[in-house]
Amino acid sequence: MGKKLLLEKVNIPGIETYEVYRREGGYKSVEKALKEMTPEAMVEEVKKSGLRGRGGAGFPTGMKWSFLAKPEGVPRHLVCNADESEPGTFKDRYLMEKLPHLLIEGMIVSSIALGANTSYIYIRGEYAYVYKIMEKAIREAYAAGWLGKNIQGLGYDLDVHMQIGAGAYICGEETALLESLEGKRGNPRIKPPFPAVAGLWGRPTVVNNVETIMAVVPIINLGGDAYAAIGVGKSTGTKLISASGHLNKPGVYEIELGLPVEEFIYSDEYCGGIRNGRKLKAVVAGGSSVPILPAHLITHTTNGEKRLMSYESLADGGFESGTMLGSGGFIAMDEDTSIVKNLYTFTRFYHHESCGQCSPCREGTGWMEKILNKILQGKGTLEDVDLLWDLQKNIEGKTICPLGDAAAWPVASAIRHFRADFEEYVRNPGQIRDVKHYYRLHNLAEA
Ligand SMILES: Cc1cc2nc3c(=O)[nH]c(=O)nc-3n(C[C@H](O)[C@H](O)[C@H](O)COP(=O)(O)O)c2cc1C
Repeated sequence: MGKKLLLEKVNIPGIETYEVYRREGGYKSVEKALKEMTPEAMVEEVKKSGLRGRGGAGFPTGMKWSFLAKPEGVPRHLVCNADESEPGTFKDRYLMEKLPHLLIEGMIVSSIALGANTSYIYIRGEYAYVYKIMEKAIREAYAAGWLGKNIQGLGYDLDVHMQIGAGAYICGEETALLESLEGKRGNPRIKPPFPAVAGLWGRPTVVNNVETIMAVVPIINLGGDAYAAIGVGKSTGTKLISASGHLNKPGVYEIELGLPVEEFIYSDEYCGGIRNGRKLKAVVAGGSSVPILPAHLITHTTNGEKRLMSYESLADGGFESGTMLGSGGFIAMDEDTSIVKNLYTFTRFYHHESCGQCSPCREGTGWMEKILNKILQGKGTLEDVDLLWDLQKNIEGKTICPLGDAAAWPVASAIRHFRADFEEYVRNPGQIRDVKHYYRLHNLAEA
């Protein structure tokens, strides 16, 4: 059995309540931090742990924390990104639903390390029931003296506020999130300045993902070195994976980074193989934004090495033959899956969610959706596939925030690895019958 750091106690009845969580050793890291450590020593442990942001980009957390500007007399903030809207990613929902006090404990220790006395959780609007679970846990933490003035009489003040979003994927981008938290339209900001210098209300701010903040708890409890001893290379610790699609056992799994992808897909400890005895066709390994890979490239690199669930191994081969770990949204597709339909669904999402600030993203995502729709209906040409390729190239890297890249990469990788699927729609419009069914199912207007 792989080591569990966050989900170790998830099956204990009542672990979502303060009473049981505390009885099981909860909030110990806060006592350790306030009694035995300086904030600098805490940041040092996080650096030593090698923890990388679990929100998608994998930026080293300790390094991000050490960038935080520390002008005297200016408040600074920790903001937890609980917006989780990336298609295929649902681990933060599970974590907050099952272990709300672990997030609060993580918020407290992280806030102490950063010197923040007011911190925020920005939670996805559609997670209304999770908001209620978190709200109850926050009330319990205040009542038990872990939040508010003079935590446990140990001389630290901290308030944690929650803000519910309104259903926009773009508000997961950290600067759009900060705009939204300030009560404005969630448009990403131009960087620099980065949030570490001018974030919420123009103050130094760290934005971290739910899972990242939770991981700080075992790092403080066990020490950075012990955390770094788990995993492989620069991919240390454990990672939560949201597994969905044509798997026998979809769900949320905590894996030790470095687990072979093949083992994750086929072993009974994890996904238990592809359902109905079908063959695997493709995998989106890190949420809808990362390049899709065909079965042979997700399990092995082009050098024939086993591909591992790690930041480096999944990226091996660059975008020619590799992908990204991203947010850990692992979507498996069997041999009957239409890559073109799948891509159309993703592209429709990105078009809908583009904030509209940058022309390449606002216009380009719409054109990609239109062309994919045309191809799906058997009205496309081979030139349309080339046009799609050109369009994605003209979006990638040309926008204020990476939503443009997130829309471009799935298109590029689908054409790179599954061009034959597109050509099949062009050459064999007989598939349209199948498409009509799809349109009815999703209540879509035909182009
Ligand atoms: C369009 C878009 C949506 C994003 N959505 C999320 C999200 O829902 N949750 C999240 O943690 N990070 C999201 N991110 C990444 C954040 O901008 C940011 O990198 C992250 O919150 C940093 O936390 P970490 O260092 O702990 O990963 C998104 C980025 C983009 C461009």
